[in-house]
Amino acid sequence: MTSISQNAIDILRENDRGTYTVPTKGLYPFQWNWDSCLTALGQRHFDENRAWTEIETLFEHQWPCGMVPHIVFHQKDDGYFPGPDIWATDRPVPTSGITQPAVAGFALKRLFDRAADPAQVAPRAAALLPKIAAWHRWFFATRDPKGEGLVAIIHPWESGRDNSIDWDIPFDRVPTDGIAPYTRRDTQHADPAHRPTKAQYDRYLWLVEHFRALQWDTARLHDASPFQVVDPGFNAILLRACADLADLAETLGRSDLAAENRAFAARGLAAMEGLWSPDHGQYLARDRVTGQLIDSASVGGLLAAFCAIPADRAAIIAETIDRHATRYRVASHPPQDPRFDAKRYWRGPVWLVVNYMIADGLARAGQADAAARITASSLDLIRENGFAEYYDPQSGEPLGGGRFTWTAAMVLEFLS
Ligand code: DGY
Repeated sequence: MTSISQNAIDILRENDRGTYTVPTKGLYPFQWNWDSCLTALGQRHFDENRAWTEIETLFEHQWPCGMVPHIVFHQKDDGYFPGPDIWATDRPVPTSGITQPAVAGFALKRLFDRAADPAQVAPRAAALLPKIAAWHRWFFATRDPKGEGLVAIIHPWESGRDNSIDWDIPFDRVPTDGIAPYTRRDTQHADPAHRPTKAQYDRYLWLVEHFRALQWDTARLHDASPFQVVDPGFNAILLRACADLADLAETLGRSDLAAENRAFAARGLAAMEGLWSPDHGQYLARDRVTGQLIDSASVGGLLAAFCAIPADRAAIIAETIDRHATRYRVASHPPQDPRFDAKRYWRGPVWLVVNYMIADGLARAGQADAAARITASSLDLIRENGFAEYYDPQSGEPLGGGRFTWTAAMVLEFLS
């Protein structure tokens, strides 16, 4: 019988396009930003050199302003919408014009720390270091214009949690008038009942067309967007990446980048306190347009445990996960909320990448048992239901795309 680790390696090899990896064939035929960084963590278990290449390829497509786009369209493929013609970002190799969770700094440090021979990979780490630092600088310059210490996403796709209940209220502000007619491709590859709705797609596209009309000038987009949300999960990933990059920069003799990133992390961690909800026992997103916390206890507020939140907060998050418990943890939204939908993308299903980051953060914060429960549940899910994009947290039914790259990568990490 083939082991799940061998299955995971087979999937990573199957989706490898030489210098980058597609999340899955058909549904996502290009390179996605945070998928790639997390994929590298899986690749390191059987081909370290290839793991470094994955992240290096992504950063070859960094914009001069410092932004790292959320999709790189390496080759033509009409099976995906919206493709390069819709984005029209005018890059040498076409890319999208928005970004994604900044997990690269964390991934780089993990690749370096766990390298067979750190001295051998040090030059590759040293070359990526200033690029990742430029991305972090871009985030705080353009997405935190008032210097609050936390950054806003300006499109739900940036969060990676596209249709989370967190965005429902701020997303209502996004108009849909005047958008060009379009045909979705995602619903030809996956069950439409498991994907975002048409009303959400109309708004996704309105924002893309709006930013395109501003010529993708990333310095102007935050203030011009009717959707500005401070997501605790997104910020936790960035703040963890800043702290990890600072440590690595120190090791590699770049004390300038270390100081800069340590300052970002310290300021951001202090500001995270403003997102804490004692009633929910977790962090909540803030709508920056209204200044209000959004009453939605999604997994984004639990993912906050990925950065160095205070130990007592991490303990409460561990309890909240137990309280919300579904057969497979951690649901992207708790079933106790009437808005929960067990099968619709980020409105209920379990995602292994999020489990991995929550478990990692909880373990660092001294919550070893809670972390172990997430790891065990994640591996049960895969053994019983295979390698899907996401899963029903109650039945374990596999949903979305199949033979999914980052799910496979996370399995190799969970097993290590
Ligand atoms: C999609 O197309 O579903 C993606 O999540 C956007 O990046």
